Amino acid sequence: MAAKKVCVIKGDDASPEVVIPTVEILEGMKLDIEFLWLTTGEEAIQKYGEGFPPAAKKAVDEADCALFGSARDPRITGLAYLRWGKKTYANFRPVKWMTGMRSPLKRPEGIDFVIVRENLEGLYPGREGDLERLEPLQLTDLMTGEILDTSKKGKFAVRVITEENCRNIAKAACELARKRKASGGKGKVTVVAKYNVLVQSDGLFRRVVEDTVKQHPELTFDQMLGDNFCQQMIINPHQFDVVVIPNESGDAFSDGAAGLVGGLGLAPSACFGEDYAYFEPVHGTAPDLMGKNIINPTAMLLSAKWMLDYLGFEEAAQRLEKAVYRVYEEGKHLTPDQGGTASTTRFCEAVQENL
Ligand code: IPM
Ligand code: MN
Repeated sequence: MAAKKVCVIKGDDASPEVVIPTVEILEGMKLDIEFLWLTTGEEAIQKYGEGFPPAAKKAVDEADCALFGSARDPRITGLAYLRWGKKTYANFRPVKWMTGMRSPLKRPEGIDFVIVRENLEGLYPGREGDLERLEPLQLTDLMTGEILDTSKKGKFAVRVITEENCRNIAKAACELARKRKASGGKGKVTVVAKYNVLVQSDGLFRRVVEDTVKQHPELTFDQMLGDNFCQQMIINPHQFDVVVIPNESGDAFSDGAAGLVGGLGLAPSACFGEDYAYFEPVHGTAPDLMGKNIINPTAMLLSAKWMLDYLGFEEAAQRLEKAVYRVYEEGKHLTPDQGGTASTTRFCEAVQENL
């Protein structure tokens, strides 16, 4: 079998400080993977005059998947291409507490759910404009029945949800719930949206998820309004298994959910389309941590763990995950966000020692 090809985009600010040691750890595992480092973002602008040059796009296309740090501007670092170019519609964001993680909750034991964030639609394509352009549409307000007043100065944003994408994301969520059930999961899919106000668009999202879950007798379905979910995930996070959320609220709530188990330094993500995937931490570029060698590499390492699974290296994925969790159990080499004094480098050495 030919080697798997992974392209690596190291990202901005403190991001390379977790991407580089993560790839070093993966290389140390001696798997049949070829890593290809891409130059994107500001570095590429200086060298090639554009942030995401054709060569980078070609490399992404030719690879099996991408490992991505965090980007300041998604348009110039390649994130926009990894999402919209490669149509990676399902963004899995696991929220799992393990012994030693610094959760603010009294009883974090057993918190283990996955947010499946819709990754392409909603407000994210950023279709905005001047309010007056909506005049020809004569839109009616749900609450008042009045026609939208477009005579004032203002802006609009268009939020589109397609049935096809709802179905894709619902299928991905059900598949994940079934897989988790096979290894002791609850087999439960919860759809979270604002279907009481966005009756049509979030209504569609809710309904398609419900219909899809009902096609799987071994799964149970639940629904929750977004505001209620924010409360429920804090007072009773153990009730959740797989939670499907539209794009912008999925983005916000998954940062919130990371806080339950100990913060963004711990939150990995994996984004899947029909024929491509990329793996990135949920956190941003952490400019405040840049150059200090203290950024927590856990989110990046656990994203890499999902990547190994995707590439078919299941045993190695297990090993890597266990090695990371063991560092938390031991509690000797944790980074400052987890109450420790270890550097990023020391944490990574501890992972390597546990492999
Ligand atoms: C994320 C990030 C991105 C998002 C930004 C960088 C556009 O916050 O991956 O969650 O909002 O999707
Ligand atoms: Mn985000």
